[in-house]
Amino acid sequence: MPAITATAPGKIILFGEHAVVYNRPAIAVPLQQVTARAVVMAEPRFSNGEIHILAPDVGLDTYLADLPGDQPLALAIRKTLAALSVSQPPAMTIRLTSTIPQAAGLGSGAAISVALIRALSVFLGQSLSTEQISDIAFEVEKYYHGTPSGIDNTVIAYNQPVYFIRGMPIETFRIAVPFYLVIGDTGVKSPTSLVVGDLRQRWWAKPEYYEDLFTAAGQIAAAGRDVIERGEPQMLGPLLDENQAILQKMDVSSTELDRLVAAARTAGALGAKLSGGGRGGNMIALVEPDTAEGVALALKSNGAAATFNCVVR
Ligand code: PMV
Repeated sequence: MPAITATAPGKIILFGEHAVVYNRPAIAVPLQQVTARAVVMAEPRFSNGEIHILAPDVGLDTYLADLPGDQPLALAIRKTLAALSVSQPPAMTIRLTSTIPQAAGLGSGAAISVALIRALSVFLGQSLSTEQISDIAFEVEKYYHGTPSGIDNTVIAYNQPVYFIRGMPIETFRIAVPFYLVIGDTGVKSPTSLVVGDLRQRWWAKPEYYEDLFTAAGQIAAAGRDVIERGEPQMLGPLLDENQAILQKMDVSSTELDRLVAAARTAGALGAKLSGGGRGGNMIALVEPDTAEGVALALKSNGAAATFNCVVR
């Protein structure tokens, strides 16, 4: 049996993070520059059912049977086997690698799950639909995030720009004119579940205040989709800035993020904001091809641990 490989992209949330948890729209796009990869190989020397998992990036070299039931990789494998009604899988090794920075708002966990679920199902001879893959990855995401909206697994499984509203049918959309982003990584690890949980407590205490912020962020996401579909991406700049101001009011930005956002604007970015869970992780800046280099340099000299230049198309 030949080895089966599947990959999944990273993702960037353009507009609407956090508000999306509260049923407002958000926009996310796949990020092809970074990928998670799963390779599944038959192991005729092992006994049936034995599943060897190798994930060198996280120092994992173990067997499925030795992992706790709620470990995310174990969960993804068990849920895939259950969805395919496979109780006695052939022996195999699953090797997982990823170039997506972890805990940085780029969807690393969801991308590993999607690549793994897709490769495993093809290996077992019964490929799952994108919707089924996304649903299984969502179940796994709950262990990473607590109360995820589902936007990460959706954009990564569909590998297309999505306009996402929790609980509604998936809407993918087209990017009429490509645009350029520089992503700046603060280097600060910030688990999304903690930021989401903290915001939830503050929302409980002051619901009207946060509901208004969520609604405003959702309106920006809808306006963002509009200008992307109309082919006027330069108009995204002010929308990014407005969304950042709202995220600051939600108190999910940070000194490091604010410094990078300001540096990007000073270096000529058309707009900038944090992307993802916040309090660390990444920010994005909208640039023209000829300002990308200068913005990336400004981010580095203002403390970015890494930058990526990307074209969204
Ligand atoms: O931290 P990330 O990139 O996985 O994004 C989280 C986005 C949130 O809206 C903050 C949470 C969610 O589940 O949608």
